[in-house]
Amino acid sequence: MKFSTTFLVLATIAATQARIYIRANSQTFTGALGGVAATPVDDSGDAKKPFSVKGDTFVNLSAALQRSCDQQFNACANLANGGDQTISVADCTAQKGELKLIVNI
Ligand SMILES: *[C@@H]1O[C@H](CO)[C@@H](O)[C@H](O)[C@H]1NC(C)=O
Repeated sequence: MKFSTTFLVLATIAATQARIYIRANSQTFTGALGGVAATPVDDSGDAKKPFSVKGDTFVNLSAALQRSCDQQFNACANLANGGDQTISVADCTAQKGELKLIVNI
C-alpha cells in the first residue's frame, strides 16, 4: 500500500512536469521574397499553448504556422504596395501557396 501510494505521487509529479519541447523555429519554409522570411515559430514555454509567433501563443503547430505565413504575406504585400518594384502582390500570393505546400497547412 505504501509503495503504491508513493508510486502514484511520483507518477502524478511526472505527468504534471511533462510538456512538449518544441525545437527552435518550427517554421521550415525558407522563402523570403523582398528579404522577408516567415516569422519564426518557437517554444512559448507555456504547456497549454506551446507555440509562439512574435509573442502570440497557439495550441497547435498548424495554427502557429498559419500566423507565421500570414505575417510573411502581409509584410511582403506591404513592400509590393509600398513601391518595391522587384516584387508584386501576386508574387507574395504565390510564395504563400509554396509555403502552405511545404509546411503542409
Ligand atoms: C488548432 O488550433 C486552432 C485554433 O486554435 C483550431 O481551430 C484547430 O482546429 C486546431 N487544429 C488541430 C489540428 O487541432
